[in-house]
Amino acid sequence: MRLPVFSWLFLMAIYALFLMTISVFGVSSPCFRNEQSLLLQLKNNLTFNSTMSTKLVKWNQSADCCSWQGVTCNEGRVIGLDLTNESISGGLDNSSSLFSLQHLESLSLAYNDFNLSHEIPLEFDKLVNLSYLNLSNALFVGQIPIAISRLTSSR
Ligand SMILES: *[C@@H]1O[C@H](CO)[C@@H](O)[C@H](O)[C@H]1NC(C)=O
Ligand SMILES: *[C@@H]1O[C@H](CO)[C@@H](O)[C@H](O)[C@H]1NC(C)=O
Ligand SMILES: *[C@@H]1O[C@H](CO)[C@@H](O)[C@H](O)[C@H]1NC(C)=O
Ligand SMILES: *[C@@H]1O[C@H](CO)[C@@H](O)[C@H](O)[C@H]1NC(C)=O
Ligand SMILES: *[C@@H]1O[C@H](CO)[C@@H](O)[C@H](O)[C@H]1NC(C)=O
Ligand SMILES: *[C@@H]1O[C@H](CO)[C@@H](O)[C@H](O)[C@H]1NC(C)=O
Ligand SMILES: *[C@@H]1O[C@H](CO)[C@@H](O)[C@H](O)[C@H]1NC(C)=O
Ligand SMILES: *[C@@H]1O[C@H](CO)[C@@H](O)[C@H](O)[C@H]1NC(C)=O
Repeated sequence: MRLPVFSWLFLMAIYALFLMTISVFGVSSPCFRNEQSLLLQLKNNLTFNSTMSTKLVKWNQSADCCSWQGVTCNEGRVIGLDLTNESISGGLDNSSSLFSLQHLESLSLAYNDFNLSHEIPLEFDKLVNLSYLNLSNALFVGQIPIAISRLTSSR
């Protein structure tokens, strides 16, 4: 029996939809909602120059946070943040939502403009799996918390 052209087109459209669903939800899991909202809170509270920013400035609700520049995920959980050279000058403290990203393994804040008078925030020890932290040229000053020296022994 011959199917009319329209039926074939209809079947092909269904098949394409099926493949798209697989590729979106099957292979790479979407960002967990709470992780996405933590990242947006982080962005909201960071002081950065949006003219100079190339990654942070584009973070928004309309896309899955695992696809944002500077964000690396594993099964929908944020495990890497690369905020190198984003002209960030402040907005990180103990209460920052950065320290609620429990699964973070790698973090770079290299080449930012944190105010020299601020200490390195001390809550890095909340990030139990953090094994890479890059603060090169981030212009923090103050005592390096003990939690950071622990990083070297964690992996
Ligand atoms: C952001 O950077 C641009 C380019 O360097 C500069 O012209 C502008 O004054 C900066 N804005 C702020 C608020 O520092
Ligand atoms: C930082 O970004 C600016 C442009 O926004 C670029 O000119 C500069 O070379 C970058 N610096 C580093 C260390 O990547
Ligand atoms: C929202 O994020 C998407 C994907 O990163 C980007 O293409 C788009 O320009 C962003 N929109 C705004 C208003 O920043
Ligand atoms: C964000 O900044 C506001 C105002 O400074 C502060 O009240 C709030 O606690 C901050 N939130 C986080 C998650 O750092
Ligand atoms: C930390 O890493 C270990 C080993 O990879 C994993 O089993 C554990 O679930 C991770 N913890 C968090 C909070 O991601
Ligand atoms: C750095 O912080 C100090 C005290 O909080 C303030 O007086 C100074 O103006 C800040 N410097 C810059 C470049 O923002
Ligand atoms: C962060 O909290 C610790 C105690 O958990 C405290 O000793 C430290 O002064 C706080 N740092 C800042 C920058 O508020
Ligand atoms: C830290 O980041 C900077 C800028 O991306 C890079 O040049 C440097 O090699 C990094 N340092 C380490 C120890 O990975």
